Amino acid sequence: MGWVDAIRDHGSLLFIHLRDIRGIVQVVFNPVFSPQSYGRASALREEYVVLVRGEVRERAKGTENPNITTGDIEVMAEELQILSKSKPLPFQISEKAIVFGENIKANPEKVDEELRLKFRYLDLRRPSMQELFIKRAEILKCIRDFLTDRNFLEIETPFLTRSTPEGARDYLVPSRIHRGKFYSLPQSPQLFKQLLMMSGMDRYFQIVRCFRDEDLRPNRQPEFTQLDLEASFIDEEFIYEVVEELISRVFALGGIRLSRPFPRMSYAEAMDRYGTDRPDLRYGMAFEDVTGILENTHYQVFRKNVARGGKIKGFCIKGKASVLSKNVLQNEYALKIAPSLGARGMTWMKVLNGKLQSNIVQFFTVPELERLKEQFGAQDGDVLILVADVSDDQVNKSLSGLREHFAKRLSLVPEERYRPLWVTQFPLFELKDSALTSQHHPFTMPDRVDFDPADRDELLALKSRAYDLVINGEELGGGSIRIHDMEVQKKIFTALGLSQEQVEDKFGFFLTALEYGAPPHGGLALGLDRVIAMILKASSIREVIAFPKTRSAFCPLTRAPATVEREQLEELGLLGPLRGLPGKEKRIEKKEVSEKLPEPSAPVPRGVSSSHVRHIARLARLKLSDMEVAEYQKDLNAILDYVETLRELDTENIRPMSHVLRASNVWREDRQEKSTKSEAILSNAPLRQDNYFKVPKIIED
Ligand code: AMO
Repeated sequence: MGWVDAIRDHGSLLFIHLRDIRGIVQVVFNPVFSPQSYGRASALREEYVVLVRGEVRERAKGTENPNITTGDIEVMAEELQILSKSKPLPFQISEKAIVFGENIKANPEKVDEELRLKFRYLDLRRPSMQELFIKRAEILKCIRDFLTDRNFLEIETPFLTRSTPEGARDYLVPSRIHRGKFYSLPQSPQLFKQLLMMSGMDRYFQIVRCFRDEDLRPNRQPEFTQLDLEASFIDEEFIYEVVEELISRVFALGGIRLSRPFPRMSYAEAMDRYGTDRPDLRYGMAFEDVTGILENTHYQVFRKNVARGGKIKGFCIKGKASVLSKNVLQNEYALKIAPSLGARGMTWMKVLNGKLQSNIVQFFTVPELERLKEQFGAQDGDVLILVADVSDDQVNKSLSGLREHFAKRLSLVPEERYRPLWVTQFPLFELKDSALTSQHHPFTMPDRVDFDPADRDELLALKSRAYDLVINGEELGGGSIRIHDMEVQKKIFTALGLSQEQVEDKFGFFLTALEYGAPPHGGLALGLDRVIAMILKASSIREVIAFPKTRSAFCPLTRAPATVEREQLEELGLLGPLRGLPGKEKRIEKKEVSEKLPEPSAPVPRGVSSSHVRHIARLARLKLSDMEVAEYQKDLNAILDYVETLRELDTENIRPMSHVLRASNVWREDRQEKSTKSEAILSNAPLRQDNYFKVPKIIED
């Protein structure tokens, strides 16, 4: 039994490919051999589910099909039953040509991804997709076997819980019983796995779903799977050993050999040499700091930056001077790509006939040029890329982007190479919008515990005992040794500016647990979807997740998220005006309602947030007051709500309009009286020229 993968009618004979998850076999319908089944077979279409009974026989010489593993045999059909029919397909499923040498009709990889996700059950019928999930299951089994053998216990932790601080927004679940209160879906099982260590569980692991409401980037999903592990009475070396062995084993399942031990690099070195905390070590072009060489140069741009405490850094691209023309370096990179990465400029030099050459070499002295060449180890045919800025971070960020861009453009990234790296000694804290936040999470052990929680400079200088596992420039996992002393944990919360009440409210249970004998412990979590996608060379983590969401956190198959019945909202106490209905209130304690629930008129958090509005305003170079932000937010959400109601409208017989408003040129003098005053429109423009907004040519992010 299986699906009809492909059909070929030879006139006197009819062939099909019969497919299930284990493979494909050719079935032959022969009018002489079985007139009845031959007759029925003419009704077959792709993806019909059929039962075939028949005799397996070797194929005639010359008719073998090396496209399929059973290509030497075929089944002579004696009986055919159609078990279910299929509508015509939205895209091709078959991946194997029925005749050797023939091309299959379509390439499903080219099908629009949203369509693939809408019909995911068809997409998953493709043998190449099924192969990914067979391998995924193999990898999960390998992980379970390995950790179980090493005495790690698999324990499940709750999904309906309190917020875990991993830096993203929480997905909230309203409680019906405790109206006005919410569970959070866990961003990770961090607090529970630490509580398990305090429960004496010694070594724990879990293959667990985590939920994070964050802006989706490539290789991020709102729900994703972690391999989460934790152990007591251990230090970093234990984690490195276990994880290196585990990662090596699972990569071996994909035929990838990793050499051990994995190298280690401090965060400071990673930033200094590669401008990122997840350097891709498959290719070179590490940065050199040449500030010392050029601090007194006549080249104004450099000298000014150095005078203001800035840096000049760069990297050397080996042997590519002939490929990178002056036009490409100057007009593409210096004028467009570097500014788009936030750089104020970019300088390039080529080594030709033993000398550095570029459009600006005349500003440098011969000894300066010689020392530059020496520092980069530059030889004939090499290209130097230099960036200066008063901000060290900006130099690193721009150079990191340029390094990646050049590597891709010049095909310098060896696809078959895998370079793991431990990044260590992260700063414990960082500044976000001038507020101190944990770089990892607040349970990470600092490198020393005698710090003053009120001394911001001291706090920013603290290093953490955290580590990230990076392979080929992608962060596959992260973890740390944890704080097991309540006093230290309290100091961290104080440093983060959390009040006694906030700490008590958010983490009181956790601090209490620390008071009852917590063992020293540490752990790590691997982003399993990323690990699996890398091992299986999948183009995105969405390929290795059975039912993923799109980039906008939408599921085209189920159309989630969706609106819910009014009654459901009412029952959950989420419907402002209805909350006060007589009879409904009986279920809630009055005091709680007034204290905890938002005012009925308060906006329910929805699609467009104030940070969305601010972001778009920033891109549009608009300065909005808080009141204007709130107005925009309200209007945009009202538009979204309205659009939502349109989904239920039947627009089948409504003629499309070319324009919702009468098309007219509002800038025409004779129209301006009737339309909005241009002065009013332009009152928000930070810069204007005549009757227009003036915006810079390049928008920096
Ligand atoms: P962290 O937040 O670094 O650590 O997460 C661990 C790993 O999970 C993966 N990951 C993701 N994968 C897909 N989609 C996402 N949205 C996403 N977010 C994270 C990454 C990341 O390295 N509790 C700590 C671990 C610990 O300290 O033990 C934690 O969750 O590969």
